[in-house]
Formats: sequence, structure tokens, C-alpha cells
Amino acid sequence: MLTTQQKTLRKFWYATVPLHTLTDGPVPFRLMGEDIVIFLDENGEPAALADRCCHRTAKLSKGWVDAGKIVCGYHGWTYDRDGKLVRIPQFDADTVLPRHSVPRHHCVGRYGYAWVALDDPLLPIFDVPEDSDPAYRRIFQFDQTWNCAAMRMMENSFDNAHFSFVHKNTFGIATAPKPKKYEIEETDYGFYAASLIEILNPPIAHQVTGSTAETTERNMRNAWYLPFCRRLDMEYPSGIRHIIINSATPIDDGRIQLVQLLYRNDTEADCPTEKLIEWDAVIIEEDREVLESTDPDAILDVSRKIEQHMPSDRPGMIMRRRLLELLRANGEEEVTRAYD
Ligand code: FES
Ligand SMILES: [Fe+2]
Repeated sequence: MLTTQQKTLRKFWYATVPLHTLTDGPVPFRLMGEDIVIFLDENGEPAALADRCCHRTAKLSKGWVDAGKIVCGYHGWTYDRDGKLVRIPQFDADTVLPRHSVPRHHCVGRYGYAWVALDDPLLPIFDVPEDSDPAYRRIFQFDQTWNCAAMRMMENSFDNAHFSFVHKNTFGIATAPKPKKYEIEETDYGFYAASLIEILNPPIAHQVTGSTAETTERNMRNAWYLPFCRRLDMEYPSGIRHIIINSATPIDDGRIQLVQLLYRNDTEADCPTEKLIEWDAVIIEEDREVLESTDPDAILDVSRKIEQHMPSDRPGMIMRRRLLELLRANGEEEVTRAYD
């Protein structure tokens, strides 16, 4: 599937830039191959427009924000959060403005990020109850550009067979390559997949897991949100919950912005933020390394190619079927390069 070619995928929310980066002015972002600009309106809410002035096409992200309106840096034409042209500085005050605008996109602030849907969203942004639960702290872990497709990141997120290989130097048990089964329940937003796995627990991970044992159990409750978000709720026997929220935001066909938030039900004294970032950074670097070597054109319709997955890969197969169903329900077929 070539992400940017599937119009249906424009109808979903993706995390783009952290809200705090918007306080100094507009920020450019590329979403599904489209250049957009994100800025804060007069209410301090994020707004997203096409990053192209309707006068002489200069990038609005090169301009600035004045009282919640975005000002083009070329001649000062000014737009509101809906993209409507509200000021032409060269006009006399009593001259009627032409009815021009730039395309606007849906944009809201949630969980510390500006979330954008290019077209009318089909589903709301998923709920993260821990975000408003005082028993949990939110940690901004990662915000990185990866050279891979969003679909590759998603299939990896539910792949229990890669731990013994990709993560053999961190938590994966190299001598136990047979993956644990997932219990899967399909939902409106995608699916819920639960699995209990055994992991290595090296000293660097002791504060993360709340255990000093050589190995420990990880109760994984993993949810997929169509098309490219997931929530991985990991619970350890210590009672610690380590809940990761990912948005594999498609920049274009071969790149994603990998956003990772973490929620923990412990305190800074139990496990410092620095440690939580350090440990997970090593793990996601292992994933990044292998995912950047994969073909970004991850096919959904596996009947078109000999891609008989491992028997364990039920989540990946369900994900492919659901995405195909989604495209077809919206009058689209998968766009992919030709396969044998
Ligand atoms: S190009 Fe933006 S105001 Fe002229
Ligand atoms: Fe991984």
C-alpha cells in the first residue's frame, strides 16, 4: 500500500507536532505528502492550513502569528484558523477583501500534541483515560522521523515473533523464538490483542519493571486504532503499568513521524524519566534499524503475493484485512506497485 495514494487515510487523526513547539510561531509539517502549517489561534488552540499562501504561493510557515492569525512573510496577507483571508495590508481600510482562502484541515490539541486530520475524520481520536488520571504521569518519550512506512511500524507493534531476534540484546529471549499467542478481539476502531510474555530483565531495566529478577513477565494489552495508532499497556508482576501510546504519522510513502508517549503509575523517585527514556530508546532504536530496511510498500492484499505469514501473525493479517475493508467501504482499492 502506498500511503499517500489512499484518500481514505486522509480521514484519520494523526499526532503531528508537540503543542509547546507552537508557542514561538508557526511550524511546518508534511502529512501524507501534503505540506501543512500548524499554528496557535487566538484561543491558544492549534490550527492547520495548507502551507501555501493563496497570493504568490509562499510558505505560510515562513511567516508569523499575530493575535491568533497567520501572517504570510512575503506581503503580509493574513488568514484565520479556517484559512479565510482576513487582511491585505496593502489595501485601504475601507476596501472590501476578495473572498480568498487557503485549504484548512481539522486540528485539535490532545495529549500534548497537535492532531491533524486532512479530511473529515471517520473516527474520533482514541481516548487515553490515564491522561486525566492523577495516578499516572505522562512522559514525552520520542518524536523522531523514521524512514519506513506507517504500516510497517504498525505490523511491528503487534509482532511477538521479532523479540527473540531484533530485541535479543535488550528484553528478547533469543533461545525462545516461538512467540506467545495473542487473544484478539476485534473492535470498531481496530482490535484489542492480549498476550503474556516472558522477557529478560537486565539490571538497567530493574527500575522500569520494578523487579530485580533475571526474567519477568509482561502482561501485554495491545490495542490497534485504525489506521496507524496503537496503545500498548504493559503490566509487570510488580504492579507497574508502562503504557505506550504511538502515532506512526505518515509523512509520505517512505517516512513516518514516530510519536511515543508513555504513562506510568509510579513516581519520579521510583524510576526517573531519564531512565525510562534511556531504556526505551535502546529498544526503539533496534526496531528503527530493522524497519528502515523494509520496503515501504507494505501490501495489504496478501493473496496477490506469496507472503504467507508466520502462523503467529494473526494481528498482522487482521490488520491487513481491516485496512482493505476500510478502503473498499470508502470506494477505494489498494494502491501498490506491481507484484509478481
Ligand atoms: S505570497 Fe503571501 S502575501 Fe504574497
Ligand atoms: Fe520491537
